[in-house]
Amino acid sequence: MAFANVVALLCFLATSIFTVEGEVRRFPDTISFGVATASYQVEGAWNVSDKGENIWDRFTHTTDSIRDRSNGDVACDSYNQHRRDIEMLKELGVDYYRFSISWTRILPDGFSNRLSQDGIAYYNTLINDLLEANITPYVTIYHWDLPQRLQDLGGWANPMMADYYTDFAKVAFEAFGDRVKHWLTFNEPWVICYQGYGMIEKAPALDMSGIADYLCGHSLLKAHAKAYHLYDDVYRPTQNGRIGWTLNTNYHEAASQSPADREAAERAMQFELGWFGHPVFSSEGDYSQILKDRVNQKSSEQGYPRSRLPEFTSEEVAYLKGTCDFFGLNHYSTNFVRMPTMALKSSKVSFDDDLGVEKFVDPAWPGSEADWLKVVPWGFRNLLNWIRNSYNSPEIIVFENGFPDRDDKDDVDRINYYNGYMNALLDAMEDGCNVTAYTAWSLMDNFEWSDGYTQRYGLYHVDFNDPMRTRTPKASAMYYKSILETRTIERD
Ligand code: GAL
Repeated sequence: MAFANVVALLCFLATSIFTVEGEVRRFPDTISFGVATASYQVEGAWNVSDKGENIWDRFTHTTDSIRDRSNGDVACDSYNQHRRDIEMLKELGVDYYRFSISWTRILPDGFSNRLSQDGIAYYNTLINDLLEANITPYVTIYHWDLPQRLQDLGGWANPMMADYYTDFAKVAFEAFGDRVKHWLTFNEPWVICYQGYGMIEKAPALDMSGIADYLCGHSLLKAHAKAYHLYDDVYRPTQNGRIGWTLNTNYHEAASQSPADREAAERAMQFELGWFGHPVFSSEGDYSQILKDRVNQKSSEQGYPRSRLPEFTSEEVAYLKGTCDFFGLNHYSTNFVRMPTMALKSSKVSFDDDLGVEKFVDPAWPGSEADWLKVVPWGFRNLLNWIRNSYNSPEIIVFENGFPDRDDKDDVDRINYYNGYMNALLDAMEDGCNVTAYTAWSLMDNFEWSDGYTQRYGLYHVDFNDPMRTRTPKASAMYYKSILETRTIERD
């Protein structure tokens, strides 16, 4: 064979291998991988032993707000099936498992004067079994299931909550901190306050946007800082763990490069991620000037004697600053933002009116079972870079990322989502973002809040009609497992 032909053949072989197998990218050894769940979404056993009632028990039992009229009474029955959950974690080969503690399971009345020994025993067993399986526990102290009795006192709008919450966190540090070295104080403060206090989307569904949401955020920030300092001062010296929280946001991309649209996009970032991010991660601390100015101006136009956004004292600003050992991030999707050409007309005081921008999506973006979740991997990369640039290159841990479908075990769309988003993660790391862990939401299908069981995010399928709640790996479980095994991913 002539030399030119040999070269041509080799080139052909090389390209076909390249296209058949795709180009492979490797994750650095510094990143670890996990999966997540939350107590109300998986545990069930809502009233076993002396467990107290929480706001999701009340919300699901007494309103018709859940799309399929379901509840978390049994959910995935992880209270009884945690051994199977650990088998699944081992099958996947994850480094860690992120789960949350149900407040009323360990403090039935919400207060720390009375502990449930059964509740403490449940989490002790879970933690011990995880450690024995060589899986690190990552514990969220609060993932939305507030004791109903504390809600009756005003919930997060009550400034006393900072103390009640810290009492709860103290019980958790004392009971589990000898073995748990990774703590999150809160899951998604923005969702807790915006959707639970501002809207009717989530419990306690207060529907007082522009007022209750800011009060909720204010005491939640104080609760977080207080629990952080307690851990830092009292427990860290002997327990040697790390503590932070996890914030959620869409990425808000400017609709055009015009100064007005760029301002609108930055304002949207400051209202969502920055509401809780700025006081803790920025070098100056406090709420961002953008948030303060907007709410102040709107409040005064509306005849309020003071801003609807409460103020921190300078001591509080200092107390809040730096109260996270890493930047925890939950992220799912992206939208465009533009500045309205005419002032948006709204007769209602609301967070969105304070924000005052227009959001929209590109109809060409692939969708999902959730109308708000479009598949836009590049937004993830841009978001990670936004955090790097805005908050002085913090260590970032991604605590949630995932895709909802209706009910599909051959879940190609979920695989495509993960492939796109994990490639975007690698792009961001190559840009210089310091991401040290990535968490898939979720280990298994579970109770998806107001959407009940109509939207599924699991790597494992759960049969909710089966009393055993049988779990079966989906195609995406195999896909995630192979990424973790090989620490590589195909370039998309
Ligand atoms: C997050 C939440 C999770 C899960 C996920 C999927 O906001 O923390 O509990 O529901 O969304 O929608």
